[in-house]
Amino acid sequence: MSSTDHQLTEHHVSDVRTRILDWYADNGRDLPWRDPETTAWGVLVSEVMLQQTQVSRVWDSWLAWMKRWPGPADLAEAEASDVLIMWGRLGYPRRALRLHETAKAVVTEHNGVLPADPELLLQLPGIGEYTAAAVSSFAFGIPEVVIDTNIRRVHARIFSGKGAGAPNLTAAERKLAAQLMPDTSTAQGLQDANTWNVAAMELGALICTARAPKCDQCPVLNQCAWVAAGKPEPETKAKTQSWNGSDRQVRGAIMGVLRAKGAVDVGTLQTTVEATGQLGRHLPEVSQWDRAVNGLVTDGLAVLDDKILALP
Ligand code: ADE
Repeated sequence: MSSTDHQLTEHHVSDVRTRILDWYADNGRDLPWRDPETTAWGVLVSEVMLQQTQVSRVWDSWLAWMKRWPGPADLAEAEASDVLIMWGRLGYPRRALRLHETAKAVVTEHNGVLPADPELLLQLPGIGEYTAAAVSSFAFGIPEVVIDTNIRRVHARIFSGKGAGAPNLTAAERKLAAQLMPDTSTAQGLQDANTWNVAAMELGALICTARAPKCDQCPVLNQCAWVAAGKPEPETKAKTQSWNGSDRQVRGAIMGVLRAKGAVDVGTLQTTVEATGQLGRHLPEVSQWDRAVNGLVTDGLAVLDDKILALP
């Protein structure tokens, strides 16, 4: 048996699960996309927005977005420029374009109805393994095994005694996650399986955080292998990309100007962007401006025509 295999007793697993499910029932946040009235499309929109962005930043954007474009057919008819303006400062705006493409594909390929099957969801633009499983489980009650960074950290700590998941998702992590899912042969088990997915995620977001876990408030403190091992540091540190001075920062500042003005002459781009203060003290060199502009054009986030840079 390899060191990554887990010998778990059903008693231990079910004890941990019950504690975390009970904790979630009392402590889970009432996020708007968790409202039972939220449509499957709304759940998908939330998952795309949450892919790289914190809940606090997504909340209002999601509400405004759903009000403007409640369903895929509404979004499919929107202009790409409006989609990018509405995406605002959520970051990684290619997500917005992919969501727009997904809305069109749902209309043309699925009669305007988001499919529930994770295999079909995976074929839509910008929907990866995590998002497909999350939408199937949270929106459609299909008990897919949902695995994200928070969930992997929670599993790793409780059952493997490690501080974090592996740098890239491993077969052992998948196997462990699958073993932890409740038995779905009863109606209660089915419901628990979907709640288990979100409960483990929530524990990772609120208690079992990467940097400052609140172990004193944890429902499985006494069941946790990582705590028992003296909370060893993770073997690999999470990559942190610095923002100041990055190409992403420059691209983001240019997008901010395009969202506000629609278009800008590349001859005045630098002074216009710098005047917004978005770059702080960073003064990009010509090569970085060029890289940012070319990158935005290549990614379809902007078009360049006769020295005018504009939203698509
Ligand atoms: N609830 C469901 N999915 C979520 C996510 N990705 N982040 C935070 N809360 C969620």
